Amino acid sequence: MKNTIKRIGVMTSGGDSPGMNAAIRAVARSCAYYNIQCVGFYRGFQGMIEGDFVEMDARSVRNIISRGGTILKSARSKEFLTPEGRQKAADSLKRAEVDAMILIGGDGTFRGGQIFSKEHNIPVIGVPGTIDNDIFGTHYTIGYDTALNTVVEAIDKIRDTASSHNRLFFVEVMGRDAGFIALNSGVGAGAEEILIPEEDLGLERLLCSLERSRNSGKTSSIVVVSEGDKIGKNVFELAEYVTKNLPDYDSKVTVLGHIQRGGSPSCFDRVLASRLCVKAVELLLDGQKDLMVGFVNNQIESCTLESALKEKHAINLELLRISDILST
Ligand code: F6P
Repeated sequence: MKNTIKRIGVMTSGGDSPGMNAAIRAVARSCAYYNIQCVGFYRGFQGMIEGDFVEMDARSVRNIISRGGTILKSARSKEFLTPEGRQKAADSLKRAEVDAMILIGGDGTFRGGQIFSKEHNIPVIGVPGTIDNDIFGTHYTIGYDTALNTVVEAIDKIRDTASSHNRLFFVEVMGRDAGFIALNSGVGAGAEEILIPEEDLGLERLLCSLERSRNSGKTSSIVVVSEGDKIGKNVFELAEYVTKNLPDYDSKVTVLGHIQRGGSPSCFDRVLASRLCVKAVELLLDGQKDLMVGFVNNQIESCTLESALKEKHAINLELLRISDILST
């Protein structure tokens, strides 16, 4: 390894996701293993701007692998969007004698990191951490698997009451503009319908399908709606429209919200975070920069931050067909 890097900074930014602590732990422990220093910046880019950091050794990250959230806190910094803010961050990294940064977050984090690295020639490696799974260059982002399990558990509970009262439930899930959480949790929870932004199936089709369900003897139904899906403007208007057109249905809306971001990470997310972050440290020690580490076909790979930002992680629409068949 080339090793001109003596001190690595790590931070978490954007929406937190379960497994971020496992990622921080893996960075700190890998640095200790390779005998280099590690510092953790609080509140993402804002902490970099303010020079708000903590020295981290192998023991500073004890017992955090199982904890949700992020011990380094997270934020979305408006100041970092400006050249002045990024200059302040570069100055504070210099003062802290940090040679390179590992940025754990989503596309907003990577966009900031890419500009910062170009302007100030500080090597950065991105680690995909978001429940949305909407990052190109990785089949899984840290936190997505845990969020899916949280959603499926919640829908299973909703199913119990839906079936006791013969009700139709619209369950809104997170994902920003992407339907990964809705599509996979919908199939996993056996939803009757799944609405995602990537495929506009239309309101007419939804009404026909719900009517067919009822005529086929189903007494309750679950429709999983991705927050990014705009078929009915929002989930409440969608429910209203459906009830107006199918007055036999007694319908309810549940917005799952931020519980999807919390909780102890699944084993999958812990292992994923561990593997990605060992690789991130090793890439920096090998003299690499401006890359994102990813999980592709069970291997840890890397791609440029540029491609991770330019391309779109394609959703598997085949799952909609599977859902259609199985909700018969
Ligand atoms: O990107 C993660 C995410 O949870 C999205 O699914 C959601 O749209 C957004 O963050 C919510 O952000 P905030 O916590 O700032 O409301």
